[in-house]
Amino acid sequence: MKRRRIIKVKDKTFAISISERAIKSQIRHVAERINRDYEGKEPIFLAVLNGSFIFAADLLREIDVPCEISFIKLSSYVGTNTTGKVREVIGLNIDITGRPVIIVEDIIDTGLTMAHMLETLKQQNPESINICTLLLKPSKLKVDLDIRYCCNQIPDDFVVGYGLDYDGFGRNTKDIYTLI
Ligand code: IMP
Repeated sequence: MKRRRIIKVKDKTFAISISERAIKSQIRHVAERINRDYEGKEPIFLAVLNGSFIFAADLLREIDVPCEISFIKLSSYVGTNTTGKVREVIGLNIDITGRPVIIVEDIIDTGLTMAHMLETLKQQNPESINICTLLLKPSKLKVDLDIRYCCNQIPDDFVVGYGLDYDGFGRNTKDIYTLI
C-alpha cells in the first residue's frame, strides 16, 4: 500500500503515528535483547493471530538464536466473567513442555487476554514464558503483567496498520495510524 499521512478505514479516519522506519528500529532493539537473553537456548515463538502476523515475520528475521515459531489464535467465543471478556486459546499444536516460550502479540490493552493466555500455557509446563509485544497501552492495563519485551508504549488511542485492524480492515499498511 502507498504511504499516506491520513487513511480511511471503513467509516473512520486515521493519521500516521508510528512510521515504518521507527517500527523496524524498535523491533531491531528488542530482537537484540532477545538474542542476548536466549543465547544457548532454543526458544519457541508463539505468535498470536491475526494481529501479530507482520510483527512476527519482521521480528523472527532479526533473531539469531536457533528457534521455532508456531501460531495460536483466540477463539471468537466471548464469555464474560467479573473481570471482562475471556477467550480460549486454540491451535497450539506444538509441545512446549520444558521449552522457553516467547509469546508474540500485536498490542496489549487491558492485558486480560494475555493474562488468560499465560494461565493456559503455564499448564503445559514450559521452561519459561516471556511476553513480546509490539505495542502497549500502559494506562489501560488492568492486570499485573511482567512484559519483558515491548517495542513501543502508546497512549490510550485506537490504532491500525502493520497487522492491526479496525473491524477486519486496515492491516495492510507499513506504518501505524491513530484514530482521529
Ligand atoms: P486486551 O485483552 O484488552 O489486552 O486486548 C488485546 C486485544 O485487543 C489485542 O490483541 C487486539 O486484538 C485488540 N486491541 C486492543 N487495542 C487495539 C487497538 O488500538 N487497535 C486494534 N486492536 C486493538
